[in-house]
Amino acid sequence: MCGIVGYVGSVVPSSRPQDVVLEGLGRLEYRGYDSAGIALVRPGAGHVEVAKKSGKLINLREELAAHPSADATAAIGHTRWATHGRPSDVNAHPHQALDGKLAVIHNGIIENFFKLRTELAAQGIVFTSETDTEVAAHLLGQEFLATGDLTQAMRSVAQRLEGTFTLLAVHADQPDTVVGARHDSPLVVGLGNGENFLGSDVSAFISHTREALELGQDEIVTITPNSVEVINFAGEPVELNRYTVDWDAAAAEKGGYWSFMAKEIDDQPQAVADTLLGRVDENGDLILDDLRIDESVLRAIDKIIVVACGTAAYAGHVAKYAIEHWCRIPVEVELAHEFRYRDPIVTTRTLVVAISQSGETMDTLMAVRHAQEQGAKVIAIVNTHGSTIPREADAVLYTHAGPEIAVASTKAFVSQITATYLLGLYFAQLRGNMFRDEIQKMLAELREMPGKIREVLERAGRVKEIAHWMADTSSVLFLGRHTGFPIALEGALKLKELAYIHAEGFAAGELKHGPIALIEPGLPVFVIVPSPRGRGLLHSKVISNIQEIRARGARTLVIAEDGDTAVEAFADEVFWVPQAPTLLSPLLNVVPLQIFAAELARAKGLDVDQPRNLAKSVTVE
Ligand code: G6P
Repeated sequence: MCGIVGYVGSVVPSSRPQDVVLEGLGRLEYRGYDSAGIALVRPGAGHVEVAKKSGKLINLREELAAHPSADATAAIGHTRWATHGRPSDVNAHPHQALDGKLAVIHNGIIENFFKLRTELAAQGIVFTSETDTEVAAHLLGQEFLATGDLTQAMRSVAQRLEGTFTLLAVHADQPDTVVGARHDSPLVVGLGNGENFLGSDVSAFISHTREALELGQDEIVTITPNSVEVINFAGEPVELNRYTVDWDAAAAEKGGYWSFMAKEIDDQPQAVADTLLGRVDENGDLILDDLRIDESVLRAIDKIIVVACGTAAYAGHVAKYAIEHWCRIPVEVELAHEFRYRDPIVTTRTLVVAISQSGETMDTLMAVRHAQEQGAKVIAIVNTHGSTIPREADAVLYTHAGPEIAVASTKAFVSQITATYLLGLYFAQLRGNMFRDEIQKMLAELREMPGKIREVLERAGRVKEIAHWMADTSSVLFLGRHTGFPIALEGALKLKELAYIHAEGFAAGELKHGPIALIEPGLPVFVIVPSPRGRGLLHSKVISNIQEIRARGARTLVIAEDGDTAVEAFADEVFWVPQAPTLLSPLLNVVPLQIFAAELARAKGLDVDQPRNLAKSVTVE
């Protein structure tokens, strides 16, 4: 949600501030937005030049082309995902104060905006938009008049605002400065040569620099062409935490694919391989990235609660099967927003595992904080370095999926599952639940998975064909048992997200308790069949379920393991995947379902990378 870019520099050409910010906004489009705007500061202009348009970035580009502006030295830009006030030109950011001398952009929600707005209106301030952001702009204007310093003004305003916010501001009298404040919403700094950058995440400036600075909670950053200063909301200087981004601009581009989604589906073998890389130390023991939890505390854990949202929560469901089996620790999986507000039973012996691609999902962040307040330790499984959740967690296991641009998650999902396997094996090692050679054997199986995913991708021709034939389908069901159940849920979610088709995932055993009433002749039903080499009983139960739905006329589309001859007789279509241990099979079974959803959406002519109404990084509760 909401993308933010800031730039300051005196680098040629003179169009650079505008170019950098527009390019950055383009790279942040994936976050989801409905309008876009930019503010440019030109020395001596006496006011900040603002252009903003509802709709896609192209509208803003056209507006700027019609009214060109050169020689700016600083710029801020914004893609808005509406919260307060409908998407419109007027409600788009930046918002201005002090007769156009000051401009502000914002990501988040200012919860006390109504009270502040009433106070400001009583002082005679006239509001031009319906947004909460305009309140921040006018407050900042007042503080600037009082202090004459944008950084100090920002600090005073930040202390008065309640809710979540990243704010960036520029002032016509300080053409070499951009000031940002961060409270519960993301903001990172990019370090350049004679220029500096700000962004909601590093993709905003990745084509210019890979050198970045993490900003902490409640910090204020002031950038000029040659300096970066950070203070906290109390006004104290803050130690800078510099890092180098381990991917480049090419990783965040389509690279010849028809969509980011298609590229990211194809990236999955690499995402899994990279997530496995470097996890074993010289003694052959598994290691986490950043462990701030005493091993004695981890040994004493008596319950794990996975908190996550969306696709990440389904990765948690898969984790439950593996971790309970390997470690004999009870694992609960809970949607983060439900966990936070239901008074969950959390003790100092509970371990909370927060799974999030972005590391910024507000619901998950709030669940993390709630768990920590109850005395629980938190391990984060996150893809985005420097994001809030890993900063606040007690330990981190980074997934190395690279940048995931398509809104609906694919490669992050398989790397999250992979990371939870590593976590499960780490616990089994720490607590002695498995023999060392058993762990090594499972790790060897895991290392085979990227190659097997590649095979599934190579066999995708048939599933693509079928997806195109089924473009006018209005409803699809997905069934699975055991680890196939969360994959059925994920298959249905992908189809809803990408193709806007009614889709439901069910535990196959639940079929006879209700969903079977939905079966009618011709209804397509995907069934994930467990390996016959695993628990044979599970396999035969699913075969019975297929027969039950087939007898009622459903069209059965079956995902089955190579060599499973028993399924063929009952399936209208079989998508074969290579043999794998039952607990690892989700990494393979999900792939045909992702491809099916993406190709069906493509056949319907939909934008699979930016589905309607969705945001990639949901930074509000
Ligand atoms: C949004 C996205 C989903 C994602 C979920 C959790 O709803 O559209 O694709 O699974 O957020 O995001 P996270 O960044 O926490 O994994």
